Amino acid sequence: MTELITAETAGFCFGVTRAIETAEKTAKRLGRVYTLGQLIHNNDVIENLRERGIIPVDSPEEAEGCIIIRSHGVGRAVYDRIAELGLECVDATCPYVARIHKIVDENSRDGSDVLVAGDGSHPEVIGIMGFANGKVRAVSSDIELEELVKSDKNFGAKSLICVAQTTFDVCKWTDLQKKIKKHYTKAKFFDTICRATTDRQAEAARLSKQCDAAVVIGGAHSSNSRKLADICAENCTVFFTENAQQLIREHGEALIRFLSSYKDVKIGITAGASTPAYIIKEVHTIMSEIIKDEAVDAEFAAAIDQMPRVRAYAGNRVKATVVAVNKTEAVVDIGIKQSGYIPAEELSANPNLSPEEIVKVGDVIDCIVTKVNDADGVVYLSKKQVDAQAGMEKIVKAKEENATVNGTVTAVVKGGVIVTSEDGARVFVPASQSGVPRNGKLEDILKKEVGFKVIEVNEGRGRVVGSIKAAEREASDEVKAKFWSELEVGKKFVGEVKSMESYGVFVDLGGVDGMVHLTELTWNRVKHPKEVVSVGDKLEVTVKSFDPEKKRVSLTAKKPEDNPWTKFTNEFAVDDVVKVQVVSITPFGAFAQIIPGVDGLIHISQISRERVNDVSKVLSVGQVVEAKITEIDEEKSRVSLSIKALLDDEPDEDDAE
Ligand code: F3S
Repeated sequence: MTELITAETAGFCFGVTRAIETAEKTAKRLGRVYTLGQLIHNNDVIENLRERGIIPVDSPEEAEGCIIIRSHGVGRAVYDRIAELGLECVDATCPYVARIHKIVDENSRDGSDVLVAGDGSHPEVIGIMGFANGKVRAVSSDIELEELVKSDKNFGAKSLICVAQTTFDVCKWTDLQKKIKKHYTKAKFFDTICRATTDRQAEAARLSKQCDAAVVIGGAHSSNSRKLADICAENCTVFFTENAQQLIREHGEALIRFLSSYKDVKIGITAGASTPAYIIKEVHTIMSEIIKDEAVDAEFAAAIDQMPRVRAYAGNRVKATVVAVNKTEAVVDIGIKQSGYIPAEELSANPNLSPEEIVKVGDVIDCIVTKVNDADGVVYLSKKQVDAQAGMEKIVKAKEENATVNGTVTAVVKGGVIVTSEDGARVFVPASQSGVPRNGKLEDILKKEVGFKVIEVNEGRGRVVGSIKAAEREASDEVKAKFWSELEVGKKFVGEVKSMESYGVFVDLGGVDGMVHLTELTWNRVKHPKEVVSVGDKLEVTVKSFDPEKKRVSLTAKKPEDNPWTKFTNEFAVDDVVKVQVVSITPFGAFAQIIPGVDGLIHISQISRERVNDVSKVLSVGQVVEAKITEIDEEKSRVSLSIKALLDDEPDEDDAE
């Protein structure tokens, strides 16, 4: 019976796991980060990280904002360059590598030369060499050592310290040390090979001895994976692959031939430090299938090759097609046989929306895998987390640009409200910044759409503080600026009477108040504005004058077509006799209303044929009398009346006789 044995040490080591976690945390904080070189030698993982904003670059000059030093580490000069460029440096150098940097730095300060056992072109070795204070060389074999000895007689003459690349072959290092000692008697050695590497290599050696073939999984550029392959190759047939697809594509036929040539074979599976667990699992699954049916045909190979590239593991970002929506969840297809579910609360940060309001069947959406339940064949996902990530990026940008963000008030909490931005970010707005008056109720703005300014962002804690009030203030400033730039005499408005004083009323013209003086409220004579308007009334007004500096607008509510003077001059002329009502008494005469809005003056000398000393003795307010229009002053809109003129017109009783 053919048997598969997977090495316990296969897969991500501590340093790689730590580097990936560091990068993910930083990307979550900043939205986008750059890694100096690929974080690990695995294309699948690199592409997945890229989708999450973790971008590999070849030099610090290509990065912006923040750069991550991967687990391989870099030399001192690179740290200096990063500082020169003003970049934030997040150091994910594996602690085992950082220890070698320290050894090399501290022990070469006295002028000792440094020899590194490792691949001189490998980034880790280049980084280690970058900490030497004097001469430094790298050799990876006896031959290279001999060449060094021949070519540089002075090297190591005074003293030499020797370290090894963390992933250097343990046996080779032991042999090399013996050779180095022969040439450099004062050489001092440090044990720097990583335990994860020694354990992995030792297990690979054991496994390959007990197996007929070994599948070694690792990236083409992963030196530790290639070393595993070399170790295994000393004991058995090796199939080196980056993933399951490549295994079938490049080694499928050879594997089948191998399996059909032997009976009851044992096949070992091991993987380098940069191989994620899901790839190991995929290779194991494929190998199990092949073992079950050794006559793997072309159709099967093609099907394997078509295997979806989607990885169902927590934290992975995938594209999902909505296949059903109900009140509690959306069912999605993410290209694998397991069913995908997005619970209602993971669809949107806005709890006021139902799943049907957020997605519809056929929508293709970005999601993050939150949980994989292999036993039930179910994958749980979250759209909300992707939205929140994008939302946070926009929030940070909005803060930088002082832009207004739109959102909906989704909850009233202690001390304020929560506004969910259109992109799903949750923002706390303190009560004092909510725009709700001190004695008002925060509940009044619940479920309302609002604009807000971002006043604080703490990406680490995922906390954003906003101000609706600041957005309202800015909107009001903009409205005001537009108002003043477009204002002109004669412009008409319909505004609400905001307040009333004895001398007039203030009318809201849309963010700016204008004043209608008492005399401009109506053509009629009134003593108080309340005689014609109330607070809250809509009033049609026209701009009479304005002063942008003093922010004053004078308005009139009088309409030219209602001008009683025009009516009067159209209907009356000098010498017309009119019935008028006395409206006020003055020492020099009495004012009498001819028509509403037009009063005439009956001068004291025009009241009677007799001399009148006190007008009030002859006329009283409200009294209706007949009078003759004796003068119309168009310019001053004044009318003179005379009762006496009528008396003069009357024939004397004597004349009648
Ligand atoms: Fe560090 Fe060893 Fe991995 S040196 S990066 S834990 S292989």
